[in-house]
Amino acid sequence: MKTPAQTKGIAAAFGVSVLSSIGLAVVYVQGGQTQLEGLLLGLALGGISVGLVMWAKHLMSEGEVVEAREVVPLQTDEREEVAEAYEHGAEEIGRRTFLSKWLAGALGALGLAALFPIRSLGVGPEDSLFHTAWRPGTRLVKADGRPVRPSELPPNGVLTVFPENHTHDADSQTMVIRLPTGDQIPGPDEFSAEGLVAFSKICTHAGCPVGLYQTQTRQLFCPCHQSAFDVLEHAKPVSGPATRPLPQLPLGVDNEGFVIATSDYPEPVGPGFWDRGRG
Ligand code: FES
Repeated sequence: MKTPAQTKGIAAAFGVSVLSSIGLAVVYVQGGQTQLEGLLLGLALGGISVGLVMWAKHLMSEGEVVEAREVVPLQTDEREEVAEAYEHGAEEIGRRTFLSKWLAGALGALGLAALFPIRSLGVGPEDSLFHTAWRPGTRLVKADGRPVRPSELPPNGVLTVFPENHTHDADSQTMVIRLPTGDQIPGPDEFSAEGLVAFSKICTHAGCPVGLYQTQTRQLFCPCHQSAFDVLEHAKPVSGPATRPLPQLPLGVDNEGFVIATSDYPEPVGPGFWDRGRG
């Protein structure tokens, strides 16, 4: 059975935890201070731990307890004993309720303080994972920023390009290929311009750069796990672990004769995070 002093001690431990959690939240909101936050978090967790240990220590009675099951005593003095025992029980239940509230308060305050650091995760990606920097009319430029003319690429020539003013945008890097005369990609031809076709350079398996083009087979290769993509079949994977074609960039030529994109990629580039689980 707990004495009032023990009850106060347990409540004090939970109280320390509540105050530390509130302090932790305040310090975080005011800009944070790593050492102080660590100390407060330690006190918040420690307060709960100490309180629970103290509580548990007195929760279990020591020794064996045997409850005599007799008829309700009829003697007056025995009745008083029973009444006294009942009151003790009620007092004990009252203490437990009191401590339960402190424990709930300590856990609640700590849970609340733990929510604040979510802000530190930074801004959400929103829909940036579904788009690249390519826009209708954006010129294709080389790594040095110079725009590309269709005549710069010989048959089977390959070039890595970026959207104008976005040469450091890794998601947007693109392989442009000039198909030799006579080569045709089946289906509607809104993706090519003057014999040029362009595909995302981000492998759809695990995101490595697809940087090798084999002119005899018209296949793009990823060096990481040897996926091969057939350019004449809209970069469909023909071997290796990749299961999705490389997205194709629709091309055009502007009135100054430079190659442009006519829109963004029609689907997200890179590994297919958005449709995993579809089988
Ligand atoms: S990342 Fe290209 S095959 Fe694995």
